[in-house]
Amino acid sequence: MPDHPLVPRPAEMSTAAPDGLVLTAATRIDAHHEARGTEAWLRTELGAATGFPLAPGDGQTAQIRLSVDPAAGLGAEGYRLIVDAAGALVVGHDAAGVFYGAQTLRQLLPAAAYRRAPAVGPVSWTLPSVHITDRPRFGWRGCMLDVGRHFLPKYDLLRFIDLLALHKLNVLHLHLTEDQGWRVEIKRYPRLTEVGAWRHESQVGAARPPVFDGRPHGGFYTQDDIREIVAYAAARHITVVPEIDIPGHSQAAIAAYPELGEGGPLDVGREWGVIENVLNVTDATLEFYRNVFDELLELFPSTYIHVGGDECPKTQWRASATAQARIREEGLGDEDGLQSWFIRHFDAYLAERGRRLVGWDEILEGGLASGATVMSWRGTEGGIAAAKAGHDVVMCPTATSYLDYRQSTSPDEPIPVGTLLTLEDVYAAEPVPEELAAAGAERVLGAQVNVWTEHMDSPRRVDYMVFPRLSAFAEVAWSPAGRDVAEFLPRLEGHLARLDALGVEYRPLDGPLPWQRRPGVAGRD
Ligand code: ACM
Repeated sequence: MPDHPLVPRPAEMSTAAPDGLVLTAATRIDAHHEARGTEAWLRTELGAATGFPLAPGDGQTAQIRLSVDPAAGLGAEGYRLIVDAAGALVVGHDAAGVFYGAQTLRQLLPAAAYRRAPAVGPVSWTLPSVHITDRPRFGWRGCMLDVGRHFLPKYDLLRFIDLLALHKLNVLHLHLTEDQGWRVEIKRYPRLTEVGAWRHESQVGAARPPVFDGRPHGGFYTQDDIREIVAYAAARHITVVPEIDIPGHSQAAIAAYPELGEGGPLDVGREWGVIENVLNVTDATLEFYRNVFDELLELFPSTYIHVGGDECPKTQWRASATAQARIREEGLGDEDGLQSWFIRHFDAYLAERGRRLVGWDEILEGGLASGATVMSWRGTEGGIAAAKAGHDVVMCPTATSYLDYRQSTSPDEPIPVGTLLTLEDVYAAEPVPEELAAAGAERVLGAQVNVWTEHMDSPRRVDYMVFPRLSAFAEVAWSPAGRDVAEFLPRLEGHLARLDALGVEYRPLDGPLPWQRRPGVAGRD
């Protein structure tokens, strides 16, 4: 294993002297005003693991110093970390840079630095002498989490945010609404969560005819929960981008308010897949969603607001007098044009409020809204087309980004998804397609992985599916281009010791442990 198994790999690192800085009960931290948040975070985290108070010091007495210097030429979110026997100095370009420098500092310590109480027996709390200059390759380093299919309780979501921060990711894309569940309290429409957040049972596995677990499932975040989640993430330099998926994937909302749909009353979805029941296109439905977004914008300060737009079957619209009349009156041509019109309505709504719309790549069909950012998931083609047309894009193609796909061909994998996506596949991803190398590369804001939870019915299962593939993705999004998996894997082993110390139930590199297996049809934990 390498001496300093840092993940993600920093842009530049050199080791200086053989000695380093030994942390003791007398070690003090000094932080500039803008670095105080990171100071408090470091004290809490390292304090728990070491038992040292890490008391505040000043320029004379502190061994660990955190400062911000936008003139140091480090670049947005960049930092320099210098450790020698006398002290450790983190200089960030901005507050985020200091935080990332402190994350690296923590990784330089033994993995016991990730425990919640001091280890029994002696640990050498020595920071090795290093000189690191680091900055991210991309400004959008994201993870989408689907809390619609299976609700992730708030406590587990906060823990998940810590794990994203450990990997220097900075966007949590929260997929809040689905056919199978609505997960955010909207005060004006209480039935969205009274009715839409609960289902009687869930499909398990992918068997046909479907098999159900006979067990109710549900949950939602109150507005106070959301404010807490957003603030907790912000303190870790993570922006929460909310997604309200429209006009497809809306059955839970229609179950709560049948007037939003095209047909009769519906239950909250119990089966997975692309569902025919979609929103209607009446003025009242548009107004309903504007009112939803009014509350959402109060809760989420993110510039980007995700409106979904994926997998909206057009069957009901083809048969709907209202939809057909709208197509004629607005001169939209066909149902793709109608979907584009629907999305453009919310593009204008968000732009008027200083926000920016982001949607899945289906929003290209029928014409892209003028201010839209595209998430390219069905491949890279959507992203390439959007970037060439002057739109920003986030790359998350299924072939390298879908963490709901199985991790090996072993029948022991606990997931009934046939497509294979190995750790190595994730590591090999290149967010900037060759087609954009000559022009358009600057439109690639970055990349993200997507965690769809049809078959992840507990936080433990999320751990298993997400890690360590997310650790590989962290290098795709953060580290300089040009990666070598043979160099990465030994470093990853050192990193897994950190995940062990944290209690993350990741997939071991050589396959699932017996209790993690769930062959055939996925059952209950
Ligand atoms: C998606 O996977 N439906 C965006």
